[in-house]
Amino acid sequence: MSDIKYSFGLWTVGWPANDPFGTATRPELDPAESVRKLADLGAWGFTYHDNDVFPFGASEADRQAGIDSVKKAAQESGLVCEMVTTNTFSHPIFKDGAFTSNSRDVRRFGLKKVLRSVDNAAEMGASTFVMWGGREGTEYDNSKDLHSAHARYAEGIDTVAAYIKAKGYDLRIGLEPKPNEPRGDIFLPTIGHAIALINTLDNGDIVGLNPETGHEQMAGLNYTHGLALALYCGKLFHIDLNGQHGPRYDQDLVFGHGDLLSAFFTVDLLENGFPNGGPRYEGPRHFDYKPSRTEYLDGVWESAKANMATYDMLAAKAKAYREDPEVQAAFQHAGIFELGESTLGAGESFDAFLADESVDGIDVDATAERDYGLVKLHQLALKHLIG
Ligand code: GCO
Ligand code: MN
Ligand code: MN
Repeated sequence: MSDIKYSFGLWTVGWPANDPFGTATRPELDPAESVRKLADLGAWGFTYHDNDVFPFGASEADRQAGIDSVKKAAQESGLVCEMVTTNTFSHPIFKDGAFTSNSRDVRRFGLKKVLRSVDNAAEMGASTFVMWGGREGTEYDNSKDLHSAHARYAEGIDTVAAYIKAKGYDLRIGLEPKPNEPRGDIFLPTIGHAIALINTLDNGDIVGLNPETGHEQMAGLNYTHGLALALYCGKLFHIDLNGQHGPRYDQDLVFGHGDLLSAFFTVDLLENGFPNGGPRYEGPRHFDYKPSRTEYLDGVWESAKANMATYDMLAAKAKAYREDPEVQAAFQHAGIFELGESTLGAGESFDAFLADESVDGIDVDATAERDYGLVKLHQLALKHLIG
């Protein structure tokens, strides 16, 4: 096993495989046992929703017992609790959302549930607090005042961020975009939408993103490009890795079991960074997948291992790809390093730029004939991936 920090949601391996068409095909797992098992398999960390470790509506004693049970397993196994999140989607009270419900009572109930979860995240020593608003959205465009809905969403997120600061917690919020499912349309459907909303917050400095592979791909978008934008904006706080085959329901496959080429370039970015340098993602490699419904308990743990093994293999391939002199030469030829140079010269004025006759003095036909060699470069990536 590599020294890469792998982490799993307890709801991933713990999913008993109930879906809208059928009942569970596996027994419920004891979350503390999952913590121990993940540590045995070589994982570094784990994450959970409040209601993964104690039921909705639990008494104070039961709540603390659930928390203490995973805390003990974490201490004994050395597995790090790196992120905590809140279930604001399962209970019927949240059927119209938690932060954006038309009901103010529900919004106040949802906010309090989230703040209690923030306290628990701090108690567990987590560094990230994820907010996935699965029920924040609509089936019908006339079911909400869409301006007020965004205002309430922003208010809710800003309140949680302000609370973290007021308490002095060392936590950052990761918003998790998703285009749809369970709502027909979910608010903050993509990385770009979430960044736009964050920019309106008073406490947006501690609010960033937790992008999920499959969620971007469900929207027909490129996950690696999304990670790049989040990094560029200083907002890549956490990641949910999994596998997906294009726009359809959220498949939550093992990482790499969907679009493998895309997974390769995701790992290349995460492990090797941008070719011209720039911000890096230093957080855990966190998996949010589901062991397929066809699998029983052996299959659960095999699939957990498969996420780490696939990532390890892709990391080794991506390293060899970047170190290959032929690849570096193809980067050079393609202009990838040239793209790292600013378009204007240092301190170049508008006047100087517009007066620069060499700009339109180029031979446009000859310049248009440049062969970037991008197919050859991509074939080199493929050779490293499957060769
Ligand atoms: C989903 C989401 C969730 C979230 C989780 C953590 O599509 O169901 O990916 O698994 O990641 O609720 O916030
Ligand atoms: Mn998902
Ligand atoms: Mn997720």
